[in-house]
Amino acid sequence: MTRTERTRVAIVGAGPAGLLLSHLLHREGIDSVVLDERDRDQIETTVRAGILEQGTVEVLDATGASERALREGHRHEGIELRFGGEGHRIDFERLVGRGVYLYPQHEVLKDLIARRLADGGDVRFGHRAISARDAENPVVEVETPDGERYELVADAVVGADGSRSVVRTLVTGSQTGGYFREYPFAWFGILCEAPPSAPELIYSASPRGFALVSQRSETVQRLYLQCDPELDPDSMSEAEIWDELQARVAGTTLHEGPIFQRDVLRFRSFVAHRLLNGNALLVGDAAHTVPPTGAKGLNLAVADVLLVADALIEFATTGSRAGLDAYPAAASHRIWRAQHFSWWMTSMLHAAPDETEFDLHRQMGELESVTASEHGSAYLAEAYTGWPLARL
Ligand code: DHB
Repeated sequence: MTRTERTRVAIVGAGPAGLLLSHLLHREGIDSVVLDERDRDQIETTVRAGILEQGTVEVLDATGASERALREGHRHEGIELRFGGEGHRIDFERLVGRGVYLYPQHEVLKDLIARRLADGGDVRFGHRAISARDAENPVVEVETPDGERYELVADAVVGADGSRSVVRTLVTGSQTGGYFREYPFAWFGILCEAPPSAPELIYSASPRGFALVSQRSETVQRLYLQCDPELDPDSMSEAEIWDELQARVAGTTLHEGPIFQRDVLRFRSFVAHRLLNGNALLVGDAAHTVPPTGAKGLNLAVADVLLVADALIEFATTGSRAGLDAYPAAASHRIWRAQHFSWWMTSMLHAAPDETEFDLHRQMGELESVTASEHGSAYLAEAYTGWPLARL
């Protein structure tokens, strides 16, 4: 006989979505169990994106989920778009009165984990969800780090388990059921020991390919080069990487330093066909993936979670399914706007290998339409800093 445990909400995945949801439910007295196959150290040290929308930071701060994001994150009031050898600043603050925060995702995770544990939260590291079944009366089959198995029975199950979600099959009927697009390029990302090369992020479209100059702290930079998805990250020497980065952001002298991490990020757009089946739901990357340009991934996950938290609180306290049933339609507006924005930023700044001369000129026209027009710039500023959130 397999051991059985019970909870109100089973949350698969201790990323930003799963941990924030568990935290918001706890604030309303609703128990949850968060499962993640990774150990705590792995979750807290894996490098991801670094840009938080203003609304994301406001939610984290207002709910006590991350008091450091506002205090220690660096507020950026604009970005630079560089093309044709010239930089063009998009002034978010002037255009839309909002900004973004540079605060790495793994720092958000450290804050959320510390908060959940301080509040007595049940976060089970190293516990792998093998499968989820019965959308009406959800059961998650779990394996412990010792290889022991048990079943977690819950009123609702939430798949916050990323792009390779185990819960997705229960919700959509298949692992791949969704709208999907793949791009013929990727980003080669590095972390290096050097101070920021510029006060704000530089998104640079150059004839050699796209480059992004980002930051992590006063002593660490994050930089990206457009590359072939099959690139072996160890195939380039440090000197080759710096030469290529420097050539793609001509006009700014990059601060160089020892490179201590390299990775290749695939570009994909995905939205699951369904986000809800009975009492099984998908949030964050389990529900949708965006290409990294514009850093919408974590922010979109937070927006999903606000809707799902309210729906589950209503369900737990009144028994009403209204919020749950409304979730897919309510979430889909922001999901598709973010899909469009991420695709648009990507297509405007990257040339695909088979791009025609026409496309390259059209792309320059597009970049000029954005930078030479207040209205064009304002759209970018509005989308980048984030649309209003349900709760705020
Ligand atoms: C970062 C990543 C992004 O995709 C982006 O658009 C901006 C910044 C980053 O990792 O710093």
